[in-house]
Amino acid sequence: MKLLITGGAGFIGSNFIRYLLEKYPTDQVINLDALTYAGNLANLKDIEKNPNYRFVKGDITNKKLVSELIAELDVVVHLAAESHVDRSIMDPEAFLKTNILGTHTLLEAARENGLKRFHHVSTDEVFGSLGPNDPAFNETTPYDPRSPYSASKAASDHLVRAYFHTYGLPVTISNCSNNYGPYMFPEKLMPLFITNLLEGKKVPLYGDGLNVRDWLWVEDHCAAIDLIVRQGKIGETYCIGGNSEKTNKEITYKILELMDKGEEAIEFVKDRPGHDRRYAIDFSKIKNELGWEPRVTFAEGMQRMAEWYRNNEAWWRDIKSGEYQKYYEQQYGK
Ligand code: NAD
Ligand code: TYD
Repeated sequence: MKLLITGGAGFIGSNFIRYLLEKYPTDQVINLDALTYAGNLANLKDIEKNPNYRFVKGDITNKKLVSELIAELDVVVHLAAESHVDRSIMDPEAFLKTNILGTHTLLEAARENGLKRFHHVSTDEVFGSLGPNDPAFNETTPYDPRSPYSASKAASDHLVRAYFHTYGLPVTISNCSNNYGPYMFPEKLMPLFITNLLEGKKVPLYGDGLNVRDWLWVEDHCAAIDLIVRQGKIGETYCIGGNSEKTNKEITYKILELMDKGEEAIEFVKDRPGHDRRYAIDFSKIKNELGWEPRVTFAEGMQRMAEWYRNNEAWWRDIKSGEYQKYYEQQYGK
């Protein structure tokens, strides 16, 4: 198989490329990534010389480039996105451009070139916010996005479905819960808190800390995407969850314990505007139809997470200091 992975220099994309190259030694993988602040080739250092891997620096809104690349391939797995909710609240425009227009550019190129398979990676945030006793999201939950990030991802999901119904493009979609694992950018809750504590800083917990997320180990997510790409039914959506609903307070106390710190390190700060209260995923469909379920338990994942950030201090220090971007600017220009 010859695959184009968009956003492969990001958190999930880099884990997914590593997963593919290990599992399928004859597959060829092209990574198209614009290297925004969230893209980091250090995430792929161990595989950059693999003969089945090629990196292309470019933007998914670049029609010519995208069409040339897609003409060479069988499959697109689309992960490139602006992905951080807080940034979308401060400056939504980049989210509309990449997440909506970028997805549209890829879909058009896929249609023109008769692509065999287009898999779109989306989020549970498109379904809105749950109350404490509401049933978990599933594939039939109505869309109700509430942040500029989730609104832009919802728009991209609708476009992907429209290209299936209108043009018969062979698409699949997955909506997953919060991922965690190696190479997670230290602006998101877990890596921010772990690295802050390693630096002797406090951890900023929003509001009352009782918002709930369903945590999914990133390699379990990669296995689910791979299964959908190879065996998922065209035109279908699959919800992927981690079976690990936790409040932010529970996450914070677990991290404090793993980092050997006390609760005086917590700083309660002003809440995020429009902060979604709870996300949870019912993953029965992918379990029943494709035999997938998460393997890594929350306790095991948190151990691995703390260990990885302890052992990869140079990686996250380069990001926090901004050094990582200087290197790529020298190599590829601004
Ligand atoms: P990330 O922010 O770590 O990485 C995004 C990557 O996309 C970066 O490498 C960035 O350089 C690249 N990119 C951004 N704009 C681009 C553009 N215009 N052209 C080309 N490349 C561009 O994101 P992530 O956490 O790895 O998420 C990957 C996908 O999974 C996203 O679509 C996101 O919406 C979805 N998702 C993520 C989570 C999560 O917990 N991280 C949960 C559900 C869904
Ligand atoms: P985040 O990692 O940004 O993911 P998302 O908003 O996509 O779920 O945030 C996870 C949860 O942690 C969310 O409820 C917001 C909260 N949070 C904090 O309390 N403090 C922080 O500094 C951050 C980044 C997030």
